[in-house]
Amino acid sequence: MLNDAQRILISEEELHNIVSRLGAKITEDYKDKNLLLVSVLKGAVVFMTDLMREVKIPCGIDFMATSSYDGAKSTGVVRIVKDLDIDIEGMDVLIVEDILDSGRTLSYITSILLKRNPASLKICTLLDKPSARVVNTVKPDYVGAEVEDEFVIGYGLDYNEKYRNLPCIAILKKEIYINNGNKE
Ligand code: IMP
Ligand code: MG
Repeated sequence: MLNDAQRILISEEELHNIVSRLGAKITEDYKDKNLLLVSVLKGAVVFMTDLMREVKIPCGIDFMATSSYDGAKSTGVVRIVKDLDIDIEGMDVLIVEDILDSGRTLSYITSILLKRNPASLKICTLLDKPSARVVNTVKPDYVGAEVEDEFVIGYGLDYNEKYRNLPCIAILKKEIYINNGNKE
């Protein structure tokens, strides 16, 4: 799988340190709250399962799924493929995302979740790609690492459903997605 990577961007050890730091901060910030971690499938699932074990206070978890990406190119259209099971009214909801790119997905999800009257709603994203932002209203509250405007894979992040099981984060070789005609 690493043959398709230009280079490793964040190693397994660095990821562990990032997730530990975020978990400690969330533990501190939410110690008197009614925390519900909401993860966005599928990309955030690896981050979610590591992060929840670094959160040392009681919390619930739930999942939702949206669809917006076709290969490496955003279609710009976001839709809910799977909704939450839990009623979030009165809960302190923390959205756990893999990467904040254009901001379309999180803008859509936050607008939907806010209508359900949570006590609070914040965003924790493993990666932030600020240079790719189209929707500027979305501000992440917790960020693992900032990345350049390149297509990254691994630790849950995919390209056409591949590479999610790579244990580190790597930059995908341009020829892989350009040959498929998928990058804007
Ligand atoms: P946004 O709606 O453009 O912010 O994109 C959010 C979603 O697009 C993320 O949850 C990812 O699943 C996907 N995405 C954006 N950039 C990348 C990338 O560099 N690699 C893999 N997936 C990405
Ligand atoms: Mg995704």
